Amino acid sequence: MSRSKRKLDHIEYALKTGQSRSSGLDDLKFIHQSFPNIGVDDVVLNTKIDNLDAGSPIYINAMTGGGGKATEGINRQLAQVANIFNIPMAVGSQMSAIRDKQEQPSYKVVRQYHPRGIVFANVGSEATVEQARFCVDMLEANALQIHMNVIQELVMPEGDRDFKGALKRIEAIVHHLDVPVIVKEVGFGMSRETVISLQDIGVKIVDIGGFGGTNFSLVENERRDRQMAFFDQWGIPTSVSIAEANSVSNEMTLLASGGIQNAYDIAKAIALGANAVGMAGQVLRWLQEDGMDATIQHIDDMLLDLKMIMTALGSKDIKSLKNVPLVITGKTKEWLTERRID
Ligand code: FNR
Repeated sequence: MSRSKRKLDHIEYALKTGQSRSSGLDDLKFIHQSFPNIGVDDVVLNTKIDNLDAGSPIYINAMTGGGGKATEGINRQLAQVANIFNIPMAVGSQMSAIRDKQEQPSYKVVRQYHPRGIVFANVGSEATVEQARFCVDMLEANALQIHMNVIQELVMPEGDRDFKGALKRIEAIVHHLDVPVIVKEVGFGMSRETVISLQDIGVKIVDIGGFGGTNFSLVENERRDRQMAFFDQWGIPTSVSIAEANSVSNEMTLLASGGIQNAYDIAKAIALGANAVGMAGQVLRWLQEDGMDATIQHIDDMLLDLKMIMTALGSKDIKSLKNVPLVITGKTKEWLTERRID
């Protein structure tokens, strides 16, 4: 199976398996306030990701590159969208561009169409310091994402089977790169223990990449003859994972993703502690099924909806949205109260 074919499979099967809407964010409710005492025009959406200033609290999360012209086209359109809204955008794993120079244009197109915006490079936790630096330089990236995807690799027929040494490699990258490093999951969530391990090696930004949206066990099972169904429900829902990560420290910048589909999801993820919120599968679906103009309209509507929600809550900025009262019910409550911490 070629790498390039795998990239195209991922897009096809991510769209086919879809978003399960089991991120746990539906378990949260805001507490209505009758006197918000602000107007919609008072609301500002800018936020900070470590030392980077982002115009809005959303970013397009890592998806593609390395699948020839098809993925170059998708990355170009995503970059155009990111540029219009001045939002950060991550590219998909650049390991294929390290191995095959011909694949570099499918990533470089992002910097070309988002020339002054925030761009995140992306590698797996198998990357060396040199490889990580090469990927950042390729895009003049403002930050580097390192993805952790053990379950995806295990279900992937041609995936890795040995996960030793990942923390050591991440630690080396964090200490030798001069751009911020974001460690991310890909839809299985991060536990409190995982976040503590990352904090201990000097990681300052995590994207918890929770369960409940794109499901890479389902995606990879589509590519297998003998299914590993037990991994299809594996993972920490996004709501729970944000709360777990947030309980570790307020020194870390917390990013949230996994099943984010609309402004209500975004507002809840921020209220639970996230500084910014990543979207992958939903944006891909908009782009592939509704087209470029509709995608721009969907994002415009979503950001206006977010301002409406923040107005109702009396939150004039992201910092104050992070502090509004919330009620946590259902499975999320059960998980947070029943989970054992040793
Ligand atoms: C991804 N994702 C991903 N993540 C990563 O770090 N490197 C990668 O190369 C990819 N590739 C990729 C391809 C496709 C088609 C999709 C849909 C997703 C994972 C992505 O960044 C995100 O963590 C998960 O998809 C969960 O978020 P959503 O999709 O539920 O918003």
